[in-house]
Amino acid sequence: MSSKIYKLPSHIAIIMDGNGRWATKRGLPRNSGHREGVRAIERTINACLKYGIKYCTFFAFSTENWKRSKEEIDGIFELLREYLKKNDNTFVEKEVKISYLGVIDPFPEDLKKALLDIMEKTKSFDKLEVNFAINYGGRDDIVRAVNKLLQSGYNKITESDILNALDTKNIPEPDFVIRTSGEMRISNFLLYQMAYSELYFPKVLWPDFNEKHFLKALKVYQKRNRRFGGIK
Ligand code: IPE
Ligand code: IPE
Ligand code: MG
Repeated sequence: MSSKIYKLPSHIAIIMDGNGRWATKRGLPRNSGHREGVRAIERTINACLKYGIKYCTFFAFSTENWKRSKEEIDGIFELLREYLKKNDNTFVEKEVKISYLGVIDPFPEDLKKALLDIMEKTKSFDKLEVNFAINYGGRDDIVRAVNKLLQSGYNKITESDILNALDTKNIPEPDFVIRTSGEMRISNFLLYQMAYSELYFPKVLWPDFNEKHFLKALKVYQKRNRRFGGIK
């Protein structure tokens, strides 16, 4: 089968949900769901490369996820660190640029270091840009952007001033937002940037998400008629 697909989203943003339920269903600890979720990230990055997606953003930890147990939070940070370290050569070989959205100050030093190292190593690539939204909240992003503008002396701002001050300033707005697990909410993801994104809520739990689901999602996107308020 040809991997050529027309009318592709340039930027796909994914709310990876359902890791806990995946684990609970199997009588496993929640963190084994997160571990399996990391494999779904790997599959999705490969699928983005295969089908020529330019930007992919993964919501990995929200500003509200601090409400979870310390054990679960530490487990997620450890998995992320492991994942970034294990894949640093792969990202380079595949020419994938890694970045993050959110505020990383409160993270453990070793996780910050792993992230900053891989960002440095991959900063010149442009085949696929992968962003991890970590300690990210859409409202927090907007508030930080407005504060930045105030600090630079603005007293009146435009929509594009805000867009250019958000964490996503260097990437296009998401064309397509996928949230797995059947939950139909945004949970404080890219609020400002999603104004005209197409939304899709497949039932599959994130750890089960594979190339077949990815392809189905692309087909769903292709059937959408994006009007942006106009008439088509
Ligand atoms: C998403 O899976 C991953 C994170 C929020 C880090 P969940 O952990 O929210 O899984 P459910 O919703 O409990 O099944
Ligand atoms: C959203 O999922 C955050 C991430 C996927 C990182 P949650 O599972 O935290 O969202 P709610 O609590 O169900 O809204
Ligand atoms: Mg959840």
